Amino acid sequence: MAFPPSFIDELIARNPIEDVVGQYVSLKRSGSNLFGLCPFHGEKTASFSVAPDKGIYYCFGCHKGGGVVNFMMEVEGLSYPDAVRALAKRAGMEVPEDEQYQSRYRKQERLWALMKEAGRFYHSQLYAPVGAECLAYVQKRGLSKSIVTRFGIGFAPNSWNALVDAMKKKGYTDEELKDADLVGEKNGRIYDRFRNRLMFPIFDVRGNVIGFGGRVLDDSKPKYLNTSETLIFNKRKNLFGLNFAKKTKLDYMILVEGNIDVVALHQYGFDCAVASLGTSLTEEHAALLSRYTEQVVLTYDSDEAGQRAAQRAIPMLEKAGIQVKVLQIRDAKDPDEYLKKFGADKFKLLLEESSNRVEYQLNAVARKYEMKDDEQRIRFIHEAAELISTLGSAVQREIYGHRVAETGKISFEAMKLEIDKAFKRRIAREKKKQEKIDLAPAQAMQPKSRSIRYVNMKSAMAEETVIAMVLKEPALLDQAKELKPAAFSSALLGKVYGQLKQRHEQGLEVSLAVLEDCTAEEISHVTGVLQRQQGPVNEAALADCIRTIRAEHQLAGVSTEDDLLALRNQLKERKGIKA
Ligand code: UTP
Ligand code: MN
Repeated sequence: MAFPPSFIDELIARNPIEDVVGQYVSLKRSGSNLFGLCPFHGEKTASFSVAPDKGIYYCFGCHKGGGVVNFMMEVEGLSYPDAVRALAKRAGMEVPEDEQYQSRYRKQERLWALMKEAGRFYHSQLYAPVGAECLAYVQKRGLSKSIVTRFGIGFAPNSWNALVDAMKKKGYTDEELKDADLVGEKNGRIYDRFRNRLMFPIFDVRGNVIGFGGRVLDDSKPKYLNTSETLIFNKRKNLFGLNFAKKTKLDYMILVEGNIDVVALHQYGFDCAVASLGTSLTEEHAALLSRYTEQVVLTYDSDEAGQRAAQRAIPMLEKAGIQVKVLQIRDAKDPDEYLKKFGADKFKLLLEESSNRVEYQLNAVARKYEMKDDEQRIRFIHEAAELISTLGSAVQREIYGHRVAETGKISFEAMKLEIDKAFKRRIAREKKKQEKIDLAPAQAMQPKSRSIRYVNMKSAMAEETVIAMVLKEPALLDQAKELKPAAFSSALLGKVYGQLKQRHEQGLEVSLAVLEDCTAEEISHVTGVLQRQQGPVNEAALADCIRTIRAEHQLAGVSTEDDLLALRNQLKERKGIKA
């Protein structure tokens, strides 16, 4: 069940897409469309478009797209019903609540409330007699009282039921405690999952407590216990400290590995520090960061694992349009230890010294080779030239070329030749890749996502055209009466066509903005279909497509297992053999 279609239609009519998007993106008109910088992937040239007449947005860079509800879901990280609610509020409309959505929404609200209560409980325990040892640990780690308060840091007592009892007293059920991942269960009884641990609440950007990371007070293992995925918590999409860091006046963010590093940095005045919750940085993290800052200073631990993690994070951040610098921690294992040993001013110097990612990568390459050995020196020069050739600007290539020439003890002229060669090789590789795409249009048309892959390209192209045409001219749906969604080779396109057809028959508006039961990826894909379609929109073109789809459907039909079996049986019968 969903919201009534007529309600959604009114909601969309009363929330013009250009107005809603305009609250997040500054848009400039160009023809009948508006353009701006994509809020989802970070970019410098405007490839994000809004088509007010179609009620959709589409990014030609990252291929995200959809209607006004999808936009709210993406940009605010909301579920479908919550996005609808937000838009209803914006337009001053009352929401007819469907039972199922209502219960999910209520469940979510209850979990937020429960996590907040749990956070308060843990925090209070830190100052209770049971928390004495933990409080001593906090002081030993040099965390100030005010920072402990700000981050809501707490203590989970060494007990099987302290939290369970406290939360039950507040009216929360076993089920809710399990849904929040605050408890374990054995023989039908629930027990506190976090015991004898220093507790870091994890907040989402809006400041709700959505999870916890619990650290042991000694060297035992596992060092951390974290909330696993719940209805309100996903570690791939959240960053520890971002709710505070997003308010920083600094024009960069510091990305570190540990919770403790984040807290220490904030305490020492670097209120722009975040960490990725014990997982390696994801594309979602990078996209999230790009909404709040243009520059990230990677400050990973000085050990090998930390350096490897930094190398992996660099391309991820750059792809999101973020300028990356790398800060090398010296004479300490991590930022926390560094601050305690040398203080904030010294750390500020490190920040100022922090180099862009190329310098950092060049240093890493240089460390791999022994320059006294000629063979190795040559390999170093080759690898460095490859790296430098990835730089977009000639000035940068020259500056780093000079530096490598010096390290590799060759003339700058020889180095320049190497870089130019590497540059040409790169261009040739890219050209080849492009040619491959041009030569294989079917491959190029294949949707990026595996889950929406086309099995019959010929039919799928016709199906795409049908959908684009009826979206542009819904009256054509009258001409397509005999075309059934089941004839579509692509399940997604068939589903979309079915919905559009049904809406048309019910006299409702036919538009992409109202699609139901589709993932964000699917909506983006279909929006892309509409944006790409350029051919004529008329009955003859439609008839062509319908013919193709039906012919392909019939061909496919003959080869289904059932039909083959029937065919075989017929043959056997004719030959007088009993099946
Ligand atoms: P660290 O081991 O560096 O922890 O792991 P830390 O928070 O900096 O603590 P100290 O300085 O050693 O006291 C970095 C991050 O990786 C995750 C946590 O989020 C931690 O903050 N982690 C680490 C886990 O999730 N599980 C573990 O067992 C260890
Ligand atoms: Mn650490």
